[in-house]
Amino acid sequence: APLQAPLIEECDPADLPPGVDPVDCCPPKPSTKAIDFVPPPKSAPIRIRPAAHLLTDEYIKKYEKAIRLMKALPADDPRNFYQQANVHCAYCNGAHQQVGLPDADFQVHESWLFLPFHRWYLYFFERIAGKMLNDPNFAMPYWNWDSPAGSNMPPMYTNLNSPLYDAIRNPAHYAPRVIDLVFDGVESTATDEEQHRYNMSLMYKQMITNAKTKDLFFGSAYRAGDKKSPGAGSIELQPHGGVHAWCCDPKSPNHEDMGHFYSAGRDPIFYAHHSNIDRMWVLWKQLGGKKRVDISDPDFLNATFHFYDENAQLVRVRVGDCLDNKKLKFEYQKVPVPWTKAKP
Ligand code: C2O
Repeated sequence: APLQAPLIEECDPADLPPGVDPVDCCPPKPSTKAIDFVPPPKSAPIRIRPAAHLLTDEYIKKYEKAIRLMKALPADDPRNFYQQANVHCAYCNGAHQQVGLPDADFQVHESWLFLPFHRWYLYFFERIAGKMLNDPNFAMPYWNWDSPAGSNMPPMYTNLNSPLYDAIRNPAHYAPRVIDLVFDGVESTATDEEQHRYNMSLMYKQMITNAKTKDLFFGSAYRAGDKKSPGAGSIELQPHGGVHAWCCDPKSPNHEDMGHFYSAGRDPIFYAHHSNIDRMWVLWKQLGGKKRVDISDPDFLNATFHFYDENAQLVRVRVGDCLDNKKLKFEYQKVPVPWTKAKP
């Protein structure tokens, strides 16, 4: 059977690393019952998610304004920026339980739920940001780390005066440092040129060589009653995990912010990282072939999550409703994709 959306009322304290400031990762209790997700109407505008390194100053200002307003919402508003960060903590650090199985964590990493969960999460985050701006076209930028053109940490995130700034990061990895997509704490000594080549071969390997079938790309099946984290899909550990490690502060005790589930969502760059991870799902299907298609197992399609939407209404969403990004009314700005030709 499919995993059912965890009940907010049954949310438990998260399993946090010892010694961290206590935080309640559970979402505010809903005042009304959850509604089932209804896809946006065909006539709704399409949000085109732009590459972060190509943003105009005007766009950056707008994006900053949205994040500033989200941070300024009352602390118990589910749309508050830090409540949004807690969504990640609750779904990843053992706060949410499987329905009817109080001892089984609902965990969204290292299984076929990884891509759909993060797609939904970003979908609502983007709508909340757009609501702050009264702009139904507002689209979340993506950090185009899969291309040499986007291989620096976008400077808007490292501007001290910006709400996009997070102090708990690795300053040694600011631009113009070229990202190492397999970073695991050890600094590479490669030149920029070499690093670009390593990164492009890694992308080729994870998106093409190691992702020939849907099971390899999405990760292992995870059904009601299963133990958490049965196995990650091809891109979850690298580059996904590598980018998290690249951003976090090496001096922080648990790799905060980006390097630990409970704190990752506190860094605004998280959402640009996940925008690009989500774009990889779109690109993978566009590579073509009979095997590069979404999983059709009903336990995948009918798995559900709870999220608060831009009106602070609790919504129950199905994995099967997020597979087509066009139906959700977002697309990605097209940029060159150099790794498709980077066969090692
Ligand atoms: Cu839920 Cu990038 O992790």
